[in-house]
Amino acid sequence: MEKNDELSLKEYDNSLRPKRLCDYIGQKEIKENMNVYIQTALKREETLDHVLLYGPPGLGKTTLANIIANEMGANWHSITAPSLDRVGDLAAILSSLEAGDVLFIDEIHRLPKVIEEVLYSAMEDYSIDIVVGKDSTASTIKIDLPPFTLIGATTRCGDISAPLRDRFGIVQQLDYYNDYDLQQIVNRTAKIFNYDIDDESSLEIARRSRGTPRVANRLFRRVRDFAQFLDEDNQIIHLDVTRMSLKKLNIDDEGLNQTDYKYLRAIIERFRGGPAGLNALSSSIGEDPQTLEDVVEPYLLQKGFIVRTPRGRTVTDKTYKHLGIDKNESR
Ligand code: ADE
Repeated sequence: MEKNDELSLKEYDNSLRPKRLCDYIGQKEIKENMNVYIQTALKREETLDHVLLYGPPGLGKTTLANIIANEMGANWHSITAPSLDRVGDLAAILSSLEAGDVLFIDEIHRLPKVIEEVLYSAMEDYSIDIVVGKDSTASTIKIDLPPFTLIGATTRCGDISAPLRDRFGIVQQLDYYNDYDLQQIVNRTAKIFNYDIDDESSLEIARRSRGTPRVANRLFRRVRDFAQFLDEDNQIIHLDVTRMSLKKLNIDDEGLNQTDYKYLRAIIERFRGGPAGLNALSSSIGEDPQTLEDVVEPYLLQKGFIVRTPRGRTVTDKTYKHLGIDKNESR
């Protein structure tokens, strides 16, 4: 058995994550800027300013946050916002921090308001005020915190309140990756799994990965499954097995999957091409509206398959053409 086959899924995911900024592929401008902020903070022996990373899911926000902590030589603490219900949960985490530590809060747009307000003073003054006791015996105690770096990640920057957003000194928007960068990511992953992949195959996977490393890595793993199934001993991936696997996965040459097709067909067939409201569409195809808004729609918008208007979503001429549907006959 290959060494990587023995790894648990978590270890396996961690082994794919680059640990250094120089190994992080793409997002050139962010890398260059973060390198300046990290190197100068290190030189001044200061804690790095708080960082907000935003962009669609799967673009490597957690990976980048991990790299930032690693480059700063900082301890890493990670939580997701929805897991915090009480102010005490956050206070316990904050008071366990040591000087220079990184606290990563994923899905930071989902912080309950009362908890968010505690963060304001933690971020600005490195202190929190906690109310102890109840009613007439209630009093406030001030807890001083060591300087730390908060790294927040979100897919929805617009859902973060202005007071919270303003407390991040460094705000970076991650964008979809181009095919070349995704190809490099696939090549890197193949190497970690001891597979050889030819350039045409890694480009083919890249082109169908919705600009998203998480998708590219998932497609690579499935292609590798087919390659291994067909020829156990041959750790080489060629274009024929790549194309065959992607066909089996129902991923088309624009990277559209079955959910995209269901979504686009619903707009055409049930809403006469649009406009269709998010909730109406969501119940029509049985997909969660938030998944549609965060995962499905951003890529379709970026590729010009839909446009969003105040009245809803509308498909474009490109969609009719891609789906082989005659616009005039379908109405
Ligand atoms: N895995 C996920 N995102 C990555 C990136 N940007 N570079 C390298 N590997 C990655």
